[in-house]
Amino acid sequence: MNLADLVTIIPTESGLHWAVLGPEAGAFAAKLALGPEEILPGADFISPKLQGLLLTGALSAEAEATTWLDQLLAALPERARLVVIEWQGDGPLDVGPDLERRFKRGRLCRHLRQAGFSQIEVPVNHPLYYIVQAVNQPPAPLPHAGEFVPVATIAELPKNGMKLVEVFGHSMIVANTGREIVAFAQACPHAGTSLLRGKLKGRMIICPLHYYMWNISNGEPIEPADEDILPLYPVRVNSTTGVIQVALSL
Ligand code: FES
Repeated sequence: MNLADLVTIIPTESGLHWAVLGPEAGAFAAKLALGPEEILPGADFISPKLQGLLLTGALSAEAEATTWLDQLLAALPERARLVVIEWQGDGPLDVGPDLERRFKRGRLCRHLRQAGFSQIEVPVNHPLYYIVQAVNQPPAPLPHAGEFVPVATIAELPKNGMKLVEVFGHSMIVANTGREIVAFAQACPHAGTSLLRGKLKGRMIICPLHYYMWNISNGEPIEPADEDILPLYPVRVNSTTGVIQVALSL
């Protein structure tokens, strides 16, 4: 697979000014078919006209990828789109560029979220390559945020017990770690497998597919440590009735 073959998946509205950076910039610039005046030269990406930045194999090719990415993110104008096409960090070992330098998708998504980007989507998550799209603006408030909904009772959740619930269209799992009741996203941050089939050991959930692990008290990845975070949801427990309530956010 040539990275440039993935360009058909990228939404490139005409009239947007894009910069294309990375080892395959030439191939992508041609395939985007935006016209020369709409594609800014890579060196001029810091421009008030810039509305989109496409990185093509650039992170894995960069020795100091995180530092370089931070510089790009800081320079990207508000509401600009970012599209990153990279090789997976955990694909088969005989494919792709320098394995030591692969920039993992989970690490990228986490980095973008921490940098204040929103609408982070992964339209392609192939074992060998991925596309991540994001917009440089804070997330819009969720409808129904802060509304607590009863989803279970303490009696239903013994230690290490889990229950799948849905709150305003979001599938999540409420669980008893033995120390607290927590709620976290049902989909594994790595590749979307249901964590309900995973193994809960105290505060650690182990995904059934690739055995990645997360701390369900704070959402941090345990192994591998550079994976994306596991979304958590606020929980309230009524100590008198034992009713567990969950909200999308505070
Ligand atoms: S889907 Fe890969 S670890 Fe969960």
